[in-house]
Amino acid sequence: MWDPAQYLAFADHRARPFYELVGRVQASSPRRVVDVGCGPGNLTVSLSSRWPSAVVEAFDSSPEMVAAAREAGVDARVDDVTTWKPLPDTDVVVSNAVLQWVPEHPTIVSKWLSVLSPGAWLAFQVPGNYADASHRLIREVGGEALAPVFRAEKPVLDPVGYADLLGDCSTVDVWETTYVQRLSGLDPVLEWVTGTALRPVRAALSDEDWQAYRAELAPRLREAYPQRADGTTWFPFRRIFAVAQV
Ligand SMILES: C[S@@+](CC[C@H](N)C(=O)[O-])C[C@H]1O[C@@H](n2cnc3c(N)ncnc32)[C@H](O)[C@@H]1O
Repeated sequence: MWDPAQYLAFADHRARPFYELVGRVQASSPRRVVDVGCGPGNLTVSLSSRWPSAVVEAFDSSPEMVAAAREAGVDARVDDVTTWKPLPDTDVVVSNAVLQWVPEHPTIVSKWLSVLSPGAWLAFQVPGNYADASHRLIREVGGEALAPVFRAEKPVLDPVGYADLLGDCSTVDVWETTYVQRLSGLDPVLEWVTGTALRPVRAALSDEDWQAYRAELAPRLREAYPQRADGTTWFPFRRIFAVAQV
């Protein structure tokens, strides 16, 4: 289950890659813009501001996220990346921080490209930090008992892998950025991953086991991401971006 409130606790940090992604889409007056995995909808609303004449379609597989998006004024529905198909008038598809949850997404992206009209845009962003201490520690503390709940060790391609995937498009723009985020609070990295990477762990554990897991993970994350004298913590976060025009 996704918790919109926990996810939105870092709304500013999570928003920047979205704006940098969408900023590279050069569609001028698209007919239909789709936010694939819209989450709580706070970023989807900016798509309507950018392209006021477009129909903005938004979906997410989480009913909790869809409810939050609807509260934010987005006409969102429950749907799934694995079964969704672009309608013929779709001119822009955006997917921010979603496709890493769908291991078969390279095949799905190829299918989208095969049905999108010439001139349509596809833009997505995925985390590229799977080799970082945060992910390593999440697995280590989980041990054998939690191994089944973890997804593939690296559920995304390298940037060149995405460039290859999009290689037949007329425009291909793939890049990566490491945001050195300044977080505050006692266990800010733990709080960050609780809203995303730890979701499957939380779902698999009883309340008591979840508290024990957090208690073991917290000091290890503190050691890997030490708090500075001013109380803030640097949290480097690498992200991979891909934008293509069909
Ligand atoms: C990290 S959040 C990103 C939300 C939003 N795009 C943003 O940038 O704030 C990931 C979202 O992907 C959604 N998601 C995960 N797997 C999905 C799937 N198979 N189909 C649709 N949405 C999915 C989750 O429910 C969650 O809302």
